[in-house]
Amino acid sequence: MAVTNVQEPALQHLLEHARQAAQNSYSPYSHFRVGAALKLNSGEVVTGANVENVSYGLTICAERSALVRAVALFGPDIRIQAVAVANLNDAPSPPCGACRQVLAEFIEPEAPVLFSAADGLRCMPFSDLLPLAFDMKLK
Ligand code: THU
Repeated sequence: MAVTNVQEPALQHLLEHARQAAQNSYSPYSHFRVGAALKLNSGEVVTGANVENVSYGLTICAERSALVRAVALFGPDIRIQAVAVANLNDAPSPPCGACRQVLAEFIEPEAPVLFSAADGLRCMPFSDLLPLAFDMKLK
């Protein structure tokens, strides 16, 4: 799914999954409720939500929560074809740097990533979000 038009029905559908997932956010410290939805090469959609911890640095972002769920459910060969991130706070929430690096391991470079930015919904290919991702080329 190499489309980067935010109006694309498949992306809007994925965004709705992300919004639903944000309802399950555990965020008693920031009150920032985030959901992520990953479309896999198999066609499956896997969602995640941010899970905070009283030891703040142990918090898991919605994107990584979705990713580890996807691998746990479907195995290490998954490939991510599209990502949507939503928050219930009506705020910008592009994926953080740590999530970009973790996603890089399993995502197609041209996969569209949909998220809200300061100027509204945005969609861009993953490779534009994280050019030059660290990779040891061991695979
Ligand atoms: N958060 C995410 O879930 N995804 C991101 O890409 C950035 C931040 C969460 C972590 C924390 O629970 C809350 O948003 C505020 O930083």
